[in-house]
Amino acid sequence: MGMREQTLPLNSLPPIALVALRAVGDAAERAGAEPYLVGGAVRDLLLGRADAADLDISLVHADASTFDAIASLTGGKVTKRSQFNTAKLSLNDLTLDLAMARAEEYPSPGSLPVVRPADSMRQDLARRDFSINAMAVSLSAASWGDLLDPHEGRADLDAGLVRALHAGSFRDDPTRIFRAARYAARLDMKLAPDTLDWALDSTRFIARLSPERVRNELESIFDEGESASAAIRLLEEWGALAVIHLSLRYEREGWDRFAQATSGLTRRERAGIGYAVLCYGASDADASAIVARLRPNAASRRAIRDTASLQRVVASETMRIRDLSNSELASLLDPLSESAIRGAALSSSDAARRRFEEYLSRHRHLKPHLTGDDLIRMGIQRGPEVGRALARLRAARIDGDATTAEDERALVRGLTAN
Ligand code: CTP
Repeated sequence: MGMREQTLPLNSLPPIALVALRAVGDAAERAGAEPYLVGGAVRDLLLGRADAADLDISLVHADASTFDAIASLTGGKVTKRSQFNTAKLSLNDLTLDLAMARAEEYPSPGSLPVVRPADSMRQDLARRDFSINAMAVSLSAASWGDLLDPHEGRADLDAGLVRALHAGSFRDDPTRIFRAARYAARLDMKLAPDTLDWALDSTRFIARLSPERVRNELESIFDEGESASAAIRLLEEWGALAVIHLSLRYEREGWDRFAQATSGLTRRERAGIGYAVLCYGASDADASAIVARLRPNAASRRAIRDTASLQRVVASETMRIRDLSNSELASLLDPLSESAIRGAALSSSDAARRRFEEYLSRHRHLKPHLTGDDLIRMGIQRGPEVGRALARLRAARIDGDATTAEDERALVRGLTAN
């Protein structure tokens, strides 16, 4: 079955990656370990979309000293070690992930696994999430490029099936429900029938995941680009969103526009808007509960809370937003987080969306030409009057009633005259 019978075209990797893999493979063997390329890199290689990012190398018969030995033999540098016996190796402008091959046991659903060294690559592959991610390619000189595929991941890739390796997979690690949605959406694949049943049986265990783990999964989906929408839709369909919070829904409009609207942003910025779109429709009380469940950073917390306020104030009265002047709309939106407004814009009807976008691009940061000092020189009384006058000037600019500094001075003269 599938053992070492096929050789993979490792040569389709970029030369810089190939050189690094040869060096690390050679060094690992000299350090007494058996090196393999594993996981997503193998999957992507078979799909013809391999690149030099995200190369995961797994080492059988490795110990605490192996990473350092590899670093010194290759002239690379170990930059980061983590609790699961993994490290990052920086080598000629590339960063590779090194890991000791391991077996895992899950003491309870949703908890982190107890790990021990694996005796073989097969054992390491058996603890993984899906067959398409449970393949390895040998980096040992004698078997260079041989594919180890004990769970027939290659056949599942060809058939377009995301298949978990055993019935308890999602209960052990409910983050795999999010991962299944992410791969199905990204690779345009389906869950194998048994796998879908197992996932549906395990959605309730999502409740046991720590806030950080749920956040990581959601934010990884937000980062998927065009397939984020389909992944969120699957999670709703499976009842997984509802386990996070009952008010979370898939809003097609918002998600269909999300990827394009957030393409140039950082992961953090995208997260704020992603949460806003996800929470569209949540009440203030829902928003508080979602924040308590996810405990996101301050910016995302604001995005979630302000999404609820925004709907209470504006979007629930879609008839009225049309009737608001630009400055009236600005005074409603000014206190709210930009991510919340962007999220609401994505989810709104065309007319409302245009108003939100116009506000963000033209009005939010618009200031009067005149400063507080100018106003005082013109006879406005020092104190709260200055702020009020500045607000009037800004409103006039936003509404097009004042364009130049001279227009503003005329308005101020009007204010001081009576
Ligand atoms: N893995 C797993 N269960 C998880 C997370 C990861 O079995 N909950 C395994 C899979 O074999 C996966 C590998 O660890 O291929 C690396 O995980 P990750 O880096 O998250 O995914 P990639 O496969 O690299 O995929 P992506 O393209 O999404 O980064």
